[in-house]
Amino acid sequence: MATFKKHIHAMTAYKPPLDGRDPQRHTLLDFNERTIPVSQPVIDALVEYVQSGRLQMYPAYGDIDQLIADYCGVKAEQVMITNGSDQGIDLIIRSSCEAGDQAIIPSPSFAMYHQCAKIENLDIIEPTYTREEGFPLQGVLEAISPKTRVICIANPNNPSGTSLSREAIAQILTAAPHATVLIDECYFEYSGLTVCDWVDQYPNLVITRTFSKTWGVPALRIGLVISCKANIQALLNVRGPYDINQLAIVGIRAALANPEYTQQYVREVMTQSKPMLEAFLASADIPFWPSDANYIWCFPKAHERINQALIAAGILVRPKADANGDIGLRVTLGTLEQTQVLISVMQQALTESEG
Ligand SMILES: Cc1ncc(COP(=O)(O)O)c(C=O)c1O
Repeated sequence: MATFKKHIHAMTAYKPPLDGRDPQRHTLLDFNERTIPVSQPVIDALVEYVQSGRLQMYPAYGDIDQLIADYCGVKAEQVMITNGSDQGIDLIIRSSCEAGDQAIIPSPSFAMYHQCAKIENLDIIEPTYTREEGFPLQGVLEAISPKTRVICIANPNNPSGTSLSREAIAQILTAAPHATVLIDECYFEYSGLTVCDWVDQYPNLVITRTFSKTWGVPALRIGLVISCKANIQALLNVRGPYDINQLAIVGIRAALANPEYTQQYVREVMTQSKPMLEAFLASADIPFWPSDANYIWCFPKAHERINQALIAAGILVRPKADANGDIGLRVTLGTLEQTQVLISVMQQALTESEG
C-alpha cells in the first residue's frame, strides 16, 4: 500500500537529459554551464583536501558565510549556503507555503520552481513571458491574491534570458507583502543585475544564487540564499547542518581567491561570444529572445535539422518549447572559439536546408 502523500505519488520526476554528456567528446552548450574546466588553484585545493585524510570528518564551514557575504556585498548573517540553489528554492518554497496556497511562477521558467511547488501541493498560476513584451509584470500583479504565498522569478529567466528591472521587482515586493518573492539570481555574474542591497528594506525578498554557472562547479553543488537576518535564521532551522559537502567549500574558497579566471571568462562570453551569435542570428533571420544571460533561445525554422547537425559535430544544445509549443534551441554561450564553430555548423545546416 502506498504510504506517501497521494500527490507525491502522482508527480513525475524532474529528469534533465543528462545521459551521454561527455566534455571529452562534446562541446556542452545545453545546460548553461561554463564551458572551460576549473582553474588549477581549484583543482590543487581539492586534491590537497582529498589527500589530507580529512574525508572521514563531517563538514565544517568555518568563515565561508563571511567570504561569500563579502563577495556579494551583504552581511554574513544575511547569507546561507545550500546544496546548489535547487536546495535553496526547495527550502524557501517549503518554508513559505502550505498545501492549497498559491504560487505565481511566470513561465516558461526553470523547472525546479514547479517541481517544488508541486511537492507542496500548491495552486500554480503562470503568467507567460513573451518575446515581444518580456516579463509579464501586469499578469503577475493581477494574479496576486491573499492566497499568494510565493512568487518565483528568475532574473534573468531561464530559458528566455529575459530580465526585469529593479523597479518592476519593487512593484511586486510592494504589491505582495504577505508572500515570499523569490528572485533567482543564478546568472548574476553574467547579467550584473541584483537586488541584494534591498534585503533589509523588504522582509519578503529572498534571493538565490549559485556557484554552478559562472564559477563552473555544478558538480560540487553549492548555492546560496540571501535575505534579511530573520529569514536566514528561519531557513537555517530547515536546512541540515551538513547539507553542503566539504569539497564544495574547499573548491569555492580557492575559486573566490582567484577570481580573475572566472571574470575573464565572463568578459569573453558577454562581450565577444554573445554579440557574435546575436549578429549571426539576426543576419540569418532567426528569431531569438533578447537575453541578459550566457545563453540565447533561438527559433530557427529548421530547428530539428540544425540540432542534428550540431549533434553530429559534437555540439549539444537544448531544444525547449515556448508557451505556444514552438520549439526553440537554447544555446549556451561558450568561448569565442566555441561560438565560431557553433555558428559555422549552424550556417552550414541552414545552407543545406535551403538548398
Ligand atoms: C534559473 C536557475 N536557477 C537555478 C538553477 C540551479 O542551479 P544549481 O546548480 O545551483 O542548483 C538553474 C540551473 O539551470 C537555473 O537555470
